[in-house]
Amino acid sequence: MLYKSLVRPLLFRKDAERSHEQILALLSHLEFLYGSLNDFYRVKDDRLRVQIGPLTFPNPVGLAAGFDKNAVAPKALSAFGFGFMEIGAVTAQAQPGNPKPRLYRLPEDHALINRLGFNNKGAEAIALKLERLRARSAMPEVPLGINIGRSKIVETKDAVADFLAAFERLFPYGDFFTLNVSSPNTPNLRDLQGETLLRELLAPVQEKNRALATRAKIDSKPLFVKIAPDMEFSQVDAIIDVVEAVKLTGIIATNATAFMREGLKSPAGREPGGLSGRPITKVVTSFVSHIFQVTQGRLPIIGVGGIFNAEDAYDKIKAGASAVQIYTGWVYEGPGAVKRINRGLLSLLERDGLKHLSDAVGMESRSTNQAGSYKRS
Ligand SMILES: Cc1cc2nc3c(=O)[nH]c(=O)nc-3n(C[C@H](O)[C@H](O)[C@H](O)COP(=O)(O)O)c2cc1C
Repeated sequence: MLYKSLVRPLLFRKDAERSHEQILALLSHLEFLYGSLNDFYRVKDDRLRVQIGPLTFPNPVGLAAGFDKNAVAPKALSAFGFGFMEIGAVTAQAQPGNPKPRLYRLPEDHALINRLGFNNKGAEAIALKLERLRARSAMPEVPLGINIGRSKIVETKDAVADFLAAFERLFPYGDFFTLNVSSPNTPNLRDLQGETLLRELLAPVQEKNRALATRAKIDSKPLFVKIAPDMEFSQVDAIIDVVEAVKLTGIIATNATAFMREGLKSPAGREPGGLSGRPITKVVTSFVSHIFQVTQGRLPIIGVGGIFNAEDAYDKIKAGASAVQIYTGWVYEGPGAVKRINRGLLSLLERDGLKHLSDAVGMESRSTNQAGSYKRS
């Protein structure tokens, strides 16, 4: 617990975004320690293995998008025991993001608020970076997802072309892709969650996916859509319809909330942006549960929002998530968090008499079904 008593207080004294950048820069120089870090932090146990379509995650705990937007240190980050990770969000065009300050800690609430606004070096630079990483065998050894967002200056009517440009440029480097239509910090981005616009976006990206795969003589890449928690379940149902019609691989639920601010104790709670961490744990679990119930477990769900420990991860899995991701919980709990979560999950499986993590997926939502509320709302 050295992290919480010593390292975190030091880090939290400095500006949030600056310390984040410094940690990433430090990690990019620690790649030579990959083997030792990986040996120390990785929990190896077949009971934790996750299969989502063609993707195999050695354990269910992934690093959520936004932590390493520019692929600064993906391999070093993966050494902290993650089963998979996402880089990005990457946009077709390089962009600086919103004016600073734009990232706030809410220590009393175990939360963060960010309004970074997709600051990133753009698809071309990040593709070149990934090419260099690949050339020197510095890609993570776990599946790597690339999170794609819309360039800020692009209008909604041109959003499809913008997404396609980034997707095509990055296609060779991702093991899977996440179409991010849920960031609260890019004006009008969330309009793309509406049924018509979503279909108009997802269908051509899936078509491009198949075309690029055929050209490269490989299978098409698993595609996910990442949704916001700021909507009614009826809107989620419309998204599910589109995702199933277009045959996406699954849904990542959810991004940070733009609206929920109830009960926050920290002064920074008044800042506009996306709130993540402990305050969204329960609401996100309810989204996971809803998606699982509506799809009767057909559609893989990656649950993300307010996971700090093994119980939090297990709740998401029992609600219906095949895998989970963390961001804010990792900042608060420190480098050992993924190891503790994976070890804790093994104990919880043993406690519940389950042989494999997949036996727990949707356990809680299925029992709701037996009570009769498994149908679509
Ligand atoms: C500083 C910060 C930046 C983020 N950037 C992105 C991003 O670029 N793309 C994305 O899909 N999600 C982004 N997220 C959202 C996270 O991936 C995650 O969905 C959300 O924070 C909820 O998980 P958590 O409570 O574990 O943090 C960001 C979150 C934070 C805190």
